[in-house]
Amino acid sequence: MKPVKVGILGLGTVGGGTVNVLKRNAAEIARRAGREIIVTRASSRDLGKPRICSTEGIAVTADPYDVINDPEIDIVLELIGGAGPVKDMVLAAIANGKHVVTANKSLIALHGNEIFAKASEKGVIVAFEAAVAGGIPIIKAIREGLSGNQIQWLAGIINGTGNFILTEMREKGRDFADVLAEAQALGYAEADPTFDVEGIDAAHKLTILASIAFGIPLQFEKVYTEGITKITRLDVDYAEKLGYRIKHLGIARKTGEGIELRVHPTLIPERRLIANVNGVMNAVLVKGDAVGPTLYYGAGAGADPTASAVVADVVDVTRALTSDPENRVPHLAFQPEAIKDIPI
Ligand code: HSE
Repeated sequence: MKPVKVGILGLGTVGGGTVNVLKRNAAEIARRAGREIIVTRASSRDLGKPRICSTEGIAVTADPYDVINDPEIDIVLELIGGAGPVKDMVLAAIANGKHVVTANKSLIALHGNEIFAKASEKGVIVAFEAAVAGGIPIIKAIREGLSGNQIQWLAGIINGTGNFILTEMREKGRDFADVLAEAQALGYAEADPTFDVEGIDAAHKLTILASIAFGIPLQFEKVYTEGITKITRLDVDYAEKLGYRIKHLGIARKTGEGIELRVHPTLIPERRLIANVNGVMNAVLVKGDAVGPTLYYGAGAGADPTASAVVADVVDVTRALTSDPENRVPHLAFQPEAIKDIPI
């Protein structure tokens, strides 16, 4: 079978990590996908910038539309981030009949309803595992692994930068601003780090999780959003003295009236597993009516962990490509007919 050709938009932390993982694990990936996967083209805003990956064999361009309009490319990976011009790029890729894999939570949370409708019209897949909880395959776990359940609630640490800051403040008594600067240097933080510390990034991710878990449209504006900027070292120390840890959680819960969505700092007894999730790690608890409570843990940010999720989507899309297009279930896209408008 012919190799699947991939084009990448953005060669920063996630794009570079994805090129590295695709190269390093090429044989494993081809075995699982059933076909070889090759990156033929990539776009980068700054061609002279040092990268974490080699671009040998990849035609690198400054214009993302060189990738989007390349007739040879089967799957476009949108790894630029942000919901600005990127939305038009993704819509253009879909209009060109490309499948899309994205790590972009703000794009999906804010514009996913429109994007999935367009993808459905064109019969292409839009996959977004890397948008939530970095390397943890939480989208697949909920949609596929727990597909026999009614989800009752989910709660999790879904911003690695915020958890890194709270952990360093507690363990080492470091200052908020100092740890945030380190998270930026490590490539964990968003381009605008207020998204991390004001809870916006977690709210984007919760919007996506709730949509998958409860079959509701993406409704970012309904999330109660509070970040960690008001937490001081004194708060962290007092919590510890009382036997608690401060953790920033995203919570989605089915109630009698609808779905409750909130992100905010919480006090968790230190004996709980989730209280001991430290650094950039994320953890998500999901309670299904059949399975009971389940817990998913792993790195929430960083080049390789996020690339792990991106590549998993590329493999899934590749596997779907080999199925009969007429009968293909867009298992990586929302299925609009399954969405009920539950008032929140
Ligand atoms: N800034 C995000 C975080 C990156 O820290 O969790 C991964 O989505």
